[in-house]
Amino acid sequence: MRKIKAVLSVSLLVLAVSGCENIGQLRYLSNVSLDPNGDPAQPAVLAEFEGDAAVNSADEWRDRRASVLREAFQRDLYGYFPDDSEVVVGDVQLIDDDAYEGLATIELVPLTIRTRFGEGEWVERTIRLVLAKPKAATTPSPVILKMDFCPFNETFRHDGLPNGEIEVILPERTGNSNVSCAITGFSPLDRLASYALGRYHVSPPIEEMIARGYAFAAINVLEYVVDSSDFGRKQLELLSRGHDGNAAWGAIAAWASQFSRAIDYLDTDEDLDTNRTAIYGHSRYGKAALVAGAFDDRIDAVIAHQSGRGGAALTRSVVGEPIVEMTATYPDWFSKAYTKRAKDSPELPFDQHQLIALLAPRPVLLGHARRDKWSDPNGAFRAAQGADLVYGLFDSEGLTAERLNEFDPDADIAFWIRPGTHGEVKEDWPAFLEFLDAHF
Ligand code: GCU
Repeated sequence: MRKIKAVLSVSLLVLAVSGCENIGQLRYLSNVSLDPNGDPAQPAVLAEFEGDAAVNSADEWRDRRASVLREAFQRDLYGYFPDDSEVVVGDVQLIDDDAYEGLATIELVPLTIRTRFGEGEWVERTIRLVLAKPKAATTPSPVILKMDFCPFNETFRHDGLPNGEIEVILPERTGNSNVSCAITGFSPLDRLASYALGRYHVSPPIEEMIARGYAFAAINVLEYVVDSSDFGRKQLELLSRGHDGNAAWGAIAAWASQFSRAIDYLDTDEDLDTNRTAIYGHSRYGKAALVAGAFDDRIDAVIAHQSGRGGAALTRSVVGEPIVEMTATYPDWFSKAYTKRAKDSPELPFDQHQLIALLAPRPVLLGHARRDKWSDPNGAFRAAQGADLVYGLFDSEGLTAERLNEFDPDADIAFWIRPGTHGEVKEDWPAFLEFLDAHF
C-alpha cells in the first residue's frame, strides 16, 4: 500500500512539474473557472488607436488599422522583422515513398533562409522542412505546418529522418547540439513524463491527418534560432546585423518568420493547396504561430495551443504568468528594448486581442487546459471576446462560445479547453482536426 502511495505521489509530482518549468508554477495547477471573469480587453479594438481614427468597416481595418497594429507590435514587443527575406530551396530528398503503411510519402527539403535589415548585408541560415503527403490525393491537399523543437525522426516516427543533432552557429564559433524531446525513451521516468506532457507533444497523429487528406509538414525552430537566452540572443544578433539591435526581432518573431519561410516553399509544391495552409504551435510556439498569422496573410488557419502570455492571453490580465517574470526568464523572446524596460514599466499601449484581431476573418483555434492557469485560459477567452468585433466587420460570427468550455469547431474563433495540465494529449488533436475539417 505504502509502495502504491509512493508511486502515486511521484507520478503526480512528475505530472505536475513536467507542465511547469519551475516549482513556483505549481500554484497555478488549480482548475480555472469556465466563466469568463476579469476586465474586458482594453483598448477597445475598433476605437481610435495611436492617431488612427476609429474603424467602421473591414476595408478600414485591412487598409489602415492592420498596418498600424503590426508596427506597434514590432516596435513595442516582438521587435522588428527583417525588411527583406527570401528562401533558396535545396535538393528535395525523397525519404520514403511508402510511409505510414503505404499511405504517404515523406520528403526532406533544405531551405536556406536569407534575410536583411535595410540595405545591410544578407545573412543566411539553412533549416530543414519535412513533409508527409497523402498518396491517395487526386487534388491538391491542405497542409498542416507544425513548429517544434523535436527531432524529425521522433516527430515523424521514421528512422530515415535526421535525429536531434543540429549545428549551432554563433558569431565566435560553430558547434553541435544534440536535442531530443526526451520523452520517447522507455525508462519509467520517460514514460511518466510522456504521460504527463502527452505523447502527442512529440508526435501528432500523422496517420489520422493523412487519412483525412491533410499533408503534414514540420520544421525545427532550433535550426534557425536556439531557444536560449544566451546562445539564442547571440544568434538573433547575428541574424539582425546592420539593424539597431535593441529594436530587432526577438526569438518569438524569428520563429514566427520560419513559418512564413516554410510557406514560401510549400506554396510552390503543386501537390498542396495554397489556400488551405494551417499552422500549429504549442505554448511558446503557439505565441509564434499567432504572430506569424498576424503578419502573414497567406496563413489560412492558426491553431495556437496553450500560448499564454505573449500569445493569446491578455497582458493586462492578472492571472497566470506575469509578463515581467517571462521577460526575466526568457530575455531572448521579445525585442531587447522591451525586455530591458519590462522590469520597470511592462505596460503596453495595446493588448493581445488586437493580435488575434489581425487574423480576422481567418479561423483560429485557441487551445487550453483547465489546470494550466499559468497560460491564463480566462485571459485568452477575454482576448477572443475583444477580437470578436473585428471578425464581425468581415461578416464572420467570430467567437460563438459564451463560456470557456463551449467548443464550436465551426466558429472562426474556436475556443478549446479540456481537463488536465500543460501539454498535448490524446483529446487535443481530434478537436484540432475537427476544427480544420470544418473550415477546410
Ligand atoms: C514556460 C513559459 C511559458 C511558455 C511555456 C512553454 O512555462 O513561462 O510562457 O508558454 O514555457 O513554452 O511550454
